[in-house]
Amino acid sequence: MTRCTLLHNCCDVTTPTWGVPLDLDYLARFRERSAEETARVAPPEGFPALPDLPLGRYTDPAFYELERQQLFARSWLYAGHDSELPDTGSYKLCDIGGAPILLVRGEDGRIRAFYNACRHRGAPVVKETCGTARMLVCQFHSWGYDLEGQLARVPDERDFVGLCRTDRGLPPVRCEQWGGWWFVNQDPDAMPLLEWLDPLPTLLADVARSPLRVIDTKTVHIGCNWKIFAEGFLEVYHARTIHPTTVGPTLDTRGTVISLFDHGHQNMLSPVKAGTRNDGRETLRTLEHLPPLMHEDINPAHGIFPNVISPLDARGFPFLVLWPEAIDRTRLDIVWFAADWGEGPLPDGEIWQKRLDRFDLVMDEDYRNLEPIQRSMEFAAHSGQAINYQERRIWHVHAWIDKVIGADRIAEALRVPDILSDWVEKI
Ligand code: FES
Ligand SMILES: [Fe+2]
Repeated sequence: MTRCTLLHNCCDVTTPTWGVPLDLDYLARFRERSAEETARVAPPEGFPALPDLPLGRYTDPAFYELERQQLFARSWLYAGHDSELPDTGSYKLCDIGGAPILLVRGEDGRIRAFYNACRHRGAPVVKETCGTARMLVCQFHSWGYDLEGQLARVPDERDFVGLCRTDRGLPPVRCEQWGGWWFVNQDPDAMPLLEWLDPLPTLLADVARSPLRVIDTKTVHIGCNWKIFAEGFLEVYHARTIHPTTVGPTLDTRGTVISLFDHGHQNMLSPVKAGTRNDGRETLRTLEHLPPLMHEDINPAHGIFPNVISPLDARGFPFLVLWPEAIDRTRLDIVWFAADWGEGPLPDGEIWQKRLDRFDLVMDEDYRNLEPIQRSMEFAAHSGQAINYQERRIWHVHAWIDKVIGADRIAEALRVPDILSDWVEKI
């Protein structure tokens, strides 16, 4: 099968021809491909009919358990940013799909992750969600751990027989870095983070090396399966209907260009109609290393498999991070990053506030459908999720969920085969 893709100016997807992602050639190819998308009257030749996604993937307790144990407990998951742990001894307590995980910056400047579970009787060592400490002292009986997680102090140690301090350090969790972003993985045998993220570290190298700072974090809980939440941000098919007075009028949805990548990652680049943005973002500080594509008025949305979606923007952007709390309940963390500005308070604070308020308004429009969709699924009010060509990121994410879990573990009726693998672009 052959076809043109965003990343290749030939028709052979196995032969990458461009060396520097998001460069000027990429931009030229984006324009060309956006024009093709606008002009087409049907999906490209050879695009397959996608079967409906089975409703049980959102309602079946056994499938949900597989997602928890085989996907979330074995995937690299976003946990925090350098700017949240600025000093030696800075720590941040994270809820990683229910697992209490502590990020700590050690004496050597490195960030490490541990379960926040004391090796005495399992109490949470720290209770505050963030802070700075010279030693991590358990708030139950005051066992003390150094910043590298080693047990360093035991009150009344004489009462323990044969206690070996070196065997009782805080339980470590894999923790690796992409730019200033830190990810954790509870699987000690997981592939390295940058391999998991491939090709995003290549594609987004300039974004990742730009100094950023977290300026706002907000958490929302919604009564739906985490995938229903994610799917609302994986397409712009809904934009004109759900967002008729907010983002709907700004996006050229027919000219949107979608790319599927290995490891379940994907992106979606939508041209912005000239003069339609009015949130003042053009006055905000830009990233230090700005890819050419980000000079353009394009609304990008990148998906970091499995649970991060980010509308990367040259003037700051959020990470939307989704966490399953129950089969029908999801937590969304919205973490905003601004280009680092150095000393003093955030510049243009009023403009930022206006931008965040506007973003919340758009999100409110998205939230309205989520719980009713969950109810529809529980009552099998419809036969399955119908996925079209411009919603293909949704199929791609589902197919990779099955790849990571292992299709053999999944009930046959609930499987999603990887029938879009020929449509994945290589970098
Ligand atoms: S449980 Fe932590 S010191 Fe006892
Ligand atoms: Fe939306």
